[in-house]
Amino acid sequence: MRILNLYAGIGGNRAQWGEEHEITAVEFDPKIAAAYQQLWPNDTVIVGDAHQYLIDHHDEFDFIWSSPPCQTHTRMQLLRVKGYGDAPKFPSGMLFEEVVFMANWSDTPYVIENVIPYYKQQIAGAQKIARHLYWASFEIPAYDDHRQENLRAIQIPELQKLHGIDLTGISVPNKRQVLRNCVSPRVGKHILDAAMREAVAA
Ligand SMILES: C[S@@+](CC[C@H](N)C(=O)[O-])C[C@H]1O[C@@H](n2cnc3c(N)ncnc32)[C@H](O)[C@@H]1O
Repeated sequence: MRILNLYAGIGGNRAQWGEEHEITAVEFDPKIAAAYQQLWPNDTVIVGDAHQYLIDHHDEFDFIWSSPPCQTHTRMQLLRVKGYGDAPKFPSGMLFEEVVFMANWSDTPYVIENVIPYYKQQIAGAQKIARHLYWASFEIPAYDDHRQENLRAIQIPELQKLHGIDLTGISVPNKRQVLRNCVSPRVGKHILDAAMREAVAA
């Protein structure tokens, strides 16, 4: 499959996808993109704006995974505003734009991932899988999430073990945060497997 992996981070969602796919990853932070390339040397890594890349290239792939920025949707926003007195921010419209664009203007199978937000869900059609919401062109089977770890407290060694991603010898600022940003590799595989079954059935 030709897969487009947008807002790639270090590739948590991609970690169990194996090497049989032709994967293009887009990440705008050059240091994170370099770490991704070291972890997944066979993937094509593009340092650039994933949002623009989606609209320009969505029809060149067999499957698209997108993880647009979640900071302004997360429940941490409530803590920042109500607990620490930060000024509230507009929730980023990129999530809405991509969901509506892909559902209406693209024939490519896709999944768009985001956090469970602090507000009542405003964008119809989300499927909750483990700890995230997904808007997808297909139904994602239920997933049993047995993970017990506390993501707020967990440190680099446990995160690496949890994700099966070894950053030893890879230089990237704020390793703990990039590891915490990872979608569970098992969930990434669960969703790609569902997309592949869907492609065979179509
Ligand atoms: C939550 S992380 C992605 C996690 C990834 N899906 C995984 O499972 O590892 C979001 C990433 O998107 C990147 N990013 C944010 N805005 C971007 C943009 N406009 N274009 C490309 N990358 C972007 C951030 O630097 C960050 O690494």
